[in-house]
Amino acid sequence: MPDTASAAGHRPRAVALMNQKGGVGKTTTAVNLGAAIAEAGRRVCLVDLDPQAHLTLHLGIDHEQIKHTTYDLLVDPDCPAAHCLVTAAANLDVIPSEVDLAAAETDLASRPDRQQILSRKFAAIEDLYDVVLIDCPPSLGLLTLNALALAGEVLVPLQAHFLALQGLGKLLETVGLIRQSVNPNLRVAGIILCMHEKQTSLAKEVVADLESFFQAARSQDVPWRDCQVLRPVVRRNIKLAEAPSFGQTIFDYAPWCAGANDYRILAQRLIETWDAQTESACDKAQASTTIEVTSQLVSRPRKVPTPQARVSRRGPKAARYDRAT
Ligand SMILES: Nc1ncnc2c1ncn2[C@@H]1O[C@H](COP(=O)(O)OP(=O)(O)OP(=O)(O)O)[C@@H](O)[C@H]1O
Ligand SMILES: [Mg+2]
Repeated sequence: MPDTASAAGHRPRAVALMNQKGGVGKTTTAVNLGAAIAEAGRRVCLVDLDPQAHLTLHLGIDHEQIKHTTYDLLVDPDCPAAHCLVTAAANLDVIPSEVDLAAAETDLASRPDRQQILSRKFAAIEDLYDVVLIDCPPSLGLLTLNALALAGEVLVPLQAHFLALQGLGKLLETVGLIRQSVNPNLRVAGIILCMHEKQTSLAKEVVADLESFFQAARSQDVPWRDCQVLRPVVRRNIKLAEAPSFGQTIFDYAPWCAGANDYRILAQRLIETWDAQTESACDKAQASTTIEVTSQLVSRPRKVPTPQARVSRRGPKAARYDRAT
């Protein structure tokens, strides 16, 4: 099994699928991207951080299979992450959710560490996975902040509508705040265009606006400076909307429909990007080790010359003088 991330001793890729706007494709993307990455042989954990529990329902996870949920994980100090895991398919585990998660914000209000509970608890099981996808609720509240504290990167599912860009500023601002406080490595890695209808002129305009916005950010010190509008876009495809009612991923429900193809290729491209980034991080780490070793050798204290050696370096004449005196 290709296992670049953990084989190289790295933490898993933790990705928050985040957009405070509702119904843009976060859950559909978490489920189907996760399933495609798992099919490609990577070990995936999906975290359902939405009280609507749509991800849990989409995967057809039975009530009986669920022992503990994201609510227990966040609120009960004695509930470890390992107790919440449910296996949905080969290479695909889930930390499920239930409606009681809605109470978590109030229940955790007085906890000073409330933004970092998920990341702290998840650390105990991170070795089990190559990729973690967190399905965020449509809000920028405490649940989303917990996702951002665990994540290394944010992918933003988005529909190319007139209002789509409206909430983007607030989203980016939230990521910036979390980066300044609890998670200095957090970055916005990509926009995933969902339910996309590329022939419409509105969609074309919105995509052009997005591209130029992120292009302008390339030279700035902001967490979205490397953000790409990812390709392929996920086309509007009715099979993707039907699959949740059968409790199936698109790869079980209609493996060769347009939606399945889009998510499969998107997963492949992301894996390639992640592998390339891991490789270059390894190269950099190796190079800096080499530089460190070299500089240690260079700066190693020279052997202090003995008086004898000092004499002989001054030449035979001086040596004779030394002997004479
Ligand atoms: N590419 C697509 N083609 C057709 N329907 C889609 C597509 N992607 C998502 N849908 C449908 O659109 C609706 C909203 O999608 P989804 O639940 O993934 O959005 P969400 O952002 O998670 O919503 P929420 O903010 O409520 O959590 C669902 O009914 C889903 O089945
Ligand atoms: Mg959702």
